[in-house]
Amino acid sequence: MSNTKHLLIVAHNPSPNTQKLVEATLRGARHEDIEGVSVKYIPPLQAVADDVLWADAIILGTTENFGYMSGALKDFFDRIYYPCLERTEAMPYAAYIRAGLDGTGTKIAIGKITTGLKWKPVQEPMILHGEYRSEFEQQCEELGMLLAASLESGII
Ligand SMILES: Cc1cc2nc3c(=O)[nH]c(=O)nc-3n(C[C@H](O)[C@H](O)[C@H](O)COP(=O)(O)O)c2cc1C
Repeated sequence: MSNTKHLLIVAHNPSPNTQKLVEATLRGARHEDIEGVSVKYIPPLQAVADDVLWADAIILGTTENFGYMSGALKDFFDRIYYPCLERTEAMPYAAYIRAGLDGTGTKIAIGKITTGLKWKPVQEPMILHGEYRSEFEQQCEELGMLLAASLESGII
């Protein structure tokens, strides 16, 4: 039986900056020193419940729009919630939120839904707000690496 662990990244990237964020997350998750972790990136509108059931850990990425997560990520949750409820309890997850100014509404909303699913936060959702800075990419890269390395070592 394979010991490969599965890391799923579901991230909405509607702009060049958010595209860089998902690429950085993937770069970290696929770091050459990390072995035995298979990483899959799927945009939220294409991700389905079976993808979540495949995963041993999940990274969520979203923009903040009108004080809430992107409609795309919300649609993902709407579709996977009941099929995954009671089948993904204690799923380790992390999230990054790209917001122009705030990000709090999105953080609260993700917290409520993942609490309903009984998922387990690896760390507080990361809010990347204000004018875009390249250090956001470094933060995302570290987040990807953290989850993949934690899966590899069995911490999560
Ligand atoms: C329709 C729309 C609504 C937005 N609403 C919010 C918001 O409520 N709070 C916030 O902090 N940023 C808001 N933003 C800014 C986006 O979060 C930001 O533009 C997005 O994350 C992309 O980042 P980028 O400009 O660095 O590519 C909004 C942007 C759009 C297009």
